[in-house]
Amino acid sequence: MKKSLEDHAARFDEKANEYDDSNSEEYRACANLVIEHAAPAEDDVVLDLGTGTGAIALALAPDADRVVGRDISEGMMEEASAKAEDEGIENVEFGHGTFREPEYDGPVDVVTSNFAMHHLSDEQKREAIEVIADLEPRKFVLGDVMFFGEPDPSEPFYSPDVDDPATVGTLADAFTNAGFSLTAVERVHDQVGVLVAERGPMADAETPETQARE
Ligand SMILES: C[S@@+](CC[C@H](N)C(=O)[O-])C[C@H]1O[C@@H](n2cnc3c(N)ncnc32)[C@H](O)[C@@H]1O
Repeated sequence: MKKSLEDHAARFDEKANEYDDSNSEEYRACANLVIEHAAPAEDDVVLDLGTGTGAIALALAPDADRVVGRDISEGMMEEASAKAEDEGIENVEFGHGTFREPEYDGPVDVVTSNFAMHHLSDEQKREAIEVIADLEPRKFVLGDVMFFGEPDPSEPFYSPDVDDPATVGTLADAFTNAGFSLTAVERVHDQVGVLVAERGPMADAETPETQARE
């Protein structure tokens, strides 16, 4: 992580009230794919990490039983809560939590995250993916800045002073090592994509075999 949690929280607190008007076409495409792939069932609990102003959480709430949003920026979550109230959405709850300490230990069926995990270092992303796997969701849908090819620092999606995106390969390895199977890869841009990771009988069956070979 190139900035501390406090720095990131302060940065997002500051831009919270203009955040929703400042997003790119690629961000919107990515968010739409996360929503589409998350596709919760009506009795599902969704955990949305780095929930921000609730773009994903609020879009999924009408289809899910409950959505739990976690973030480090109170300012971003105040915007999210205000939108939930305006839209009459009552099955969503926002509170403090990080990727590696989500501060939620209830049941989770689907975990989502959009445009947030790239703030973590690759090692922290691996730890976060392990923490998420331990919550035993059946699916984790990650939309984010990620490198499909050689990173180009002049591209608008990558600010080297604050962002630390991983390659798609690094993320795929982290998912597989945590017991997920990668079931979809969506490339939105050379530096933006959506990965769908699922756990199930196949993933569980593969884990002991993989361990035995090591
Ligand atoms: C670019 S916004 C994305 C918000 C939302 N997911 C969306 O799609 O609009 C990134 C969010 O990640 C949050 N964030 C950054 N680092 C985090 C961390 N380690 N744990 C949880 N949230 C974090 C920021 O506070 C911010 O609200």
